[in-house]
Amino acid sequence: MGKLKIGVLGSGAGSNMQSIVDAIDRGELDAEIKLVLADVPGAKILERARNHALPHAYLDCAPYRTKLEGPAEDRCIEMLKAAGVDTVVLAGFMRIVKPKLLAAFPDRVLNIHPALLPAFPGVHSWTQALDYGCKVAGVTVHFVDAGTDSGPIIVQKCVPVLEDDTPETLHARIQVEEHKAFPEALRILSSGNYRIEGRRVRIGQVS
Ligand code: GRF
Repeated sequence: MGKLKIGVLGSGAGSNMQSIVDAIDRGELDAEIKLVLADVPGAKILERARNHALPHAYLDCAPYRTKLEGPAEDRCIEMLKAAGVDTVVLAGFMRIVKPKLLAAFPDRVLNIHPALLPAFPGVHSWTQALDYGCKVAGVTVHFVDAGTDSGPIIVQKCVPVLEDDTPETLHARIQVEEHKAFPEALRILSSGNYRIEGRRVRIGQVS
């Protein structure tokens, strides 16, 4: 596959985007971030993009509150295509992406979710894991399909849940693994050495 041309969609702090930037800078990932879009005007992810001189913009997604649809979706696809993006990374993007964007980048939209899917899809999954009494928690990087947090899994990493954990301490431990998992998943993509077989991503299986 070779060098990935990444477009990042985010809503918040952008620490996952930072982990990708750092992996590229260290020469550990053959990729280039072509565009960063955020649906929240003052989001820190935009500040990080600015600090690294990455092309970035605010994407106004109104009138929708929880999904990327309609004119904003069209604009988003247009901007990503114009920037030459071939791989879309959802890095803390708090909206559901719809089939039109998925069709524009088939099997090239990745999401990171702070739980060991299929357990605890949706929001605040680390709190759900804690409240459930799980002894391990973790993170999943997966291809995005039409469902919520449901596409084929590329990388998972686990962390222990400790006796005195709070949602904050557990989330912080998960985030350390997130920052390894996203670059790792992108390295697999860039190697081209994988095959999607139903739900399974077979790594090192290309004949
Ligand atoms: C992460 O916990 C990620 O797993 C979830 O949203 C959070 C984003 O964090 N999808 P950041 O904006 O990358 O710092």
